[in-house]
Amino acid sequence: MERFDVAAEIIQEAGKILRRCHLEQAEISQKTGHQDLVTFWDRKIEQQLRHSILTAFPQDSIVGEEYPPQENCDRKVTWYLDPIDGTTNFINQHQNYAISMGCWEGADPLFGLVLDVERETLYWGKHGGGAWQDQTPIHTSVRRELSELLLTTPGLQYTFLEPHPYQERMIRLSRKVRGVRCLGSVALELCEVAAGRADLFVTMRSSPWDHNAARIILEEAGGAIFTVDGDELPLDQKSTVVGLNSYSIKSCVFSG
Ligand code: IPD
Ligand code: CA
Ligand code: CA
Repeated sequence: MERFDVAAEIIQEAGKILRRCHLEQAEISQKTGHQDLVTFWDRKIEQQLRHSILTAFPQDSIVGEEYPPQENCDRKVTWYLDPIDGTTNFINQHQNYAISMGCWEGADPLFGLVLDVERETLYWGKHGGGAWQDQTPIHTSVRRELSELLLTTPGLQYTFLEPHPYQERMIRLSRKVRGVRCLGSVALELCEVAAGRADLFVTMRSSPWDHNAARIILEEAGGAIFTVDGDELPLDQKSTVVGLNSYSIKSCVFSG
C-alpha cells in the first residue's frame, strides 16, 4: 500500500477508538501545568500510529508530540503526528479535537490528513492534488478586505491577552477584522481556513505536529502560511503561525 492509503486507514481506526473511549479522571495528567494536559488516550493513539507506520515503512522517521523523535538512518520521509490536537477540548467537551498526520519528504510536502474525530470528517490534501473534505474538494474563501475577514485563533489568552512582542499588532488586527473565533485546535482551525469557513488564522505558539499536516491542506486549498514575521514556516521548530485564505492578502495582514 502507498503511504497515503496506510495513513487514511490508520487515522480512521484511531478515530474509532477515540469516539468509543470513556476518559477517566485518573487518565489525565499535567505536563507543564494545569493548562497543558495529556491523557492516557493521547499516548495510546500515538503509540498505535507509530507502530502501524513503522511496521509498513520501517525506514521512515516520526516526530510526534508525546514521545521522543524516532529518527531512522536515511531520514528521507518524516511523519508529523499529533494523536489528539485539542486535548483540552477532548477532556472537557469530547468534541472539537483532531488527529493530525503530515508526511514530508525532506522539505517537500507529500500529504496531510486531519480527522475531526467526533464529526467523522476527514480533511486531506496531497501535494499537487488539491484539498478535500471527505470526498468534496475544498477551497479557501474569496474575501480580501480585512473588514470582511473572520479570524480564528486557538488561544485568545496567548494571542491577545498575555504580553508578547506582537501583542499590540494582534489587538489592532482584531479590531480591523469582522470577528474573532477561538476553537482550540491548531489543526482544525487551519482546516476551517482551508474550507473557507474562516479567512485568517493566528497563533503565537505552534509545534511541528500541530501544523505540518494542515499546512499542506491549506496550501492545496489555495491558502498561504507564514510566521508572524511573514517568513517561511519552519518544518522542525516551534513557531508563530499565520494562515491566510490567499497569498494576495499577505501585504494587508502584515502591514498592520
Ligand atoms: C494545542 C492546541 C491548542 C493550541 C496549543 C496546542 P494539544 O495542542 O492546538 O489549541 O493553543 O498551542 O499545543 O496540546 O491539544 O495537542
Ligand atoms: Ca497539538
Ligand atoms: Ca496533542
